[in-house]
Amino acid sequence: MSSVEVRAYAEPDYDACRALWVMLTDHHREIYDAPNIGGDDPGKGFDDFLADDRMNGAWVAEVDGAVAGLAGLYVAHGAPELEPLVVHPGHRNQGVARALVDVVTGECRTRGFSYLSVNPVARNLQAIGAYKSLGFDVVGDVELLLWLGDRERRWIDDVVIGDIRLQR
Ligand SMILES: CC(C)(COP(=O)(O)OP(=O)(O)OC[C@H]1O[C@@H](n2cnc3c(N)ncnc32)[C@H](O)[C@@H]1OP(=O)(O)O)[C@@H](O)C(=O)NCCC(=O)NCCS
Repeated sequence: MSSVEVRAYAEPDYDACRALWVMLTDHHREIYDAPNIGGDDPGKGFDDFLADDRMNGAWVAEVDGAVAGLAGLYVAHGAPELEPLVVHPGHRNQGVARALVDVVTGECRTRGFSYLSVNPVARNLQAIGAYKSLGFDVVGDVELLLWLGDRERRWIDDVVIGDIRLQR
């Protein structure tokens, strides 16, 4: 298997990382069956990420010299968050996310943080499964939505916290 090398994001990675951001958006569009997520230019999310004051670091994973994954560290009000984490579909299940998360976790330890959070949408079971394997096995805040949008949106009624049943 090819080895994974993680290094800090640099400007020449821009196009590859913007494309990864589009793949991340496509994944969300697919799981919610909502083609409007991310708007007309979903790669703009990456531009917003680079410009965000909370952005405290970005790393890319290279496999055979090509960018295969992207991870970022947001820090707001002293709280660190892994955002984003995305691996190119052609390189998944090869330890790329693990290599990126190891580096972000190391950075958090160096900075003296006592935890690192990640906030996947509740519909993203693939990512939640991967995060659990990567050590994110404690639930912190839970964001609940009072849905005001289109009534056609179908929710899945299978989330249980304590004995409280919720939808995702
Ligand atoms: C989630 C994602 C980042 C995982 O990347 P990856 O490089 O395939 O993950 P790794 O190969 O490093 O696997 C890490 C661990 O997660 C596990 N894992 C990976 N995909 C999994 C899944 N779908 N369900 C359960 N566990 C999974 C692996 O088995 C591994 O655990 P192990 O070492 O104990 O076997 C990748 O699937 C992805 O980019 N998904 C689309 C974008 C996305 O949803 N990002 C998260 C947004 S919050």
